[in-house]
Amino acid sequence: MRYGHRITHIAAKSEFLLSDVLRIGIAGLGTVGGGVIRLLSEQEDLLTQRCGRALAVTAISARDRNKPRDFDMPDATWYDDAVALAQADNVDVVVELIGGEDGPARATVETALGCGKHVVTANKALLAVHGGALAELAEKVDRTLCYEAAVCGGIPVIKAMREGLAANRFERIYGILNGTCNYILTKMEEDGAEFAAVLAEAQQLGYAEADPSFDIGGIDAAHKLTLLASLAYGCQVQFGDVFIEGIEDLTASDIRFARELGYRIKLLGLARRTDTGIERRVHPCLVPLRTPIAEVNGVTNAVVAVGNYAGQTMFVGPGAGAEPTASSVIADIVDIARGLAMPPFATPYSKLEEAAARPMDLWQGAYYVRLTVLDQPGSMAGITAVMAEHSVSIDSIIQRGRAPGAAVPVVMLTHKTEEASMTRVLREITALEPVTERPRVIRIERF
Ligand code: HSE
Repeated sequence: MRYGHRITHIAAKSEFLLSDVLRIGIAGLGTVGGGVIRLLSEQEDLLTQRCGRALAVTAISARDRNKPRDFDMPDATWYDDAVALAQADNVDVVVELIGGEDGPARATVETALGCGKHVVTANKALLAVHGGALAELAEKVDRTLCYEAAVCGGIPVIKAMREGLAANRFERIYGILNGTCNYILTKMEEDGAEFAAVLAEAQQLGYAEADPSFDIGGIDAAHKLTLLASLAYGCQVQFGDVFIEGIEDLTASDIRFARELGYRIKLLGLARRTDTGIERRVHPCLVPLRTPIAEVNGVTNAVVAVGNYAGQTMFVGPGAGAEPTASSVIADIVDIARGLAMPPFATPYSKLEEAAARPMDLWQGAYYVRLTVLDQPGSMAGITAVMAEHSVSIDSIIQRGRAPGAAVPVVMLTHKTEEASMTRVLREITALEPVTERPRVIRIERF
């Protein structure tokens, strides 16, 4: 696709476009699909004015036609099969809101592009796993593949990275990319509650999925980080290269200790180019209190991009929900209606770099370590001897309570060290007789 020439081409045709209706096929009528249909209907005049042409839903598809829905179905052709919708003659843009990295979602998107239609999707799993091949296909057939809604719901972070910050090299990007995890961590801190209880409450309130494993396991955040890293660093879309840890092992006591030490625990996604590859990681982090990212609480998402010319920019907003996500889906549709086309990952597919994943063993930083240790003479001496042997230096240490002969928590912060050394230390400490539980370790991020 020759992006540079496309704008001129479209501008020359603007009179034609002004009178031309953009025909939209929506595959998937769940929460986001309903939001998209409502927004298109309620803001029809505004959108027609902004696009210079009308937007019309001409085709719809979902698993169950008769399911009760809290929005008026548009007067559009119904398809039981989303792939058939993707082939329909009366559709210019296919909006894929089915979800899932394979199955009908992938078939619908591949078919739509293969039939010469533009695609808008909110499907981060599909793109994180197959985004490279889909971008290549989109460019080959000279159609756009847009996914603003796939990363951080209502925050227009894809456009910000791809367009607004296009002139920058990125020193690092990081963010709170999963609202469910951020909500759980916030509630654990506010209520002093344990993970399992807060997760159950979040599910009851409808914040967390019935199967929340992708959220709490860090997979959903890693999908989003994969896309952001490709945009920022022009690297291939390689979900498999992301180091991932979730929040399942965090306890109320970790959150309390972290706070006492001047930190808050956040699940972050972070990416950075290094001399030894692109570092892509998702894991819980201790972040200093009073830093902007530490103040992002509840279901809110945030992305921080540090550009070499723009400096630090931060994007904060709702990461999910029908209305914010619909706002992002429609923003992509508006781009298509205006004739704007961008390479899906900012860099044309053929120029995306096959970048090595930076081994996590090379990561350097400070650590929070919580040990459960028998309160008896010599326990700490054994632990500190292991640390000294691997040149891991202690920055501060807390032991609360006294329970001779019984186990007590001991919390340490280390000075900056290498992950490989820390792994060795933990292996050896775990084997010591006075250490009664697996040590809990959280990396500290300083900004
Ligand atoms: N499940 C995601 C979250 C929203 O909790 O942030 C959609 O990606």
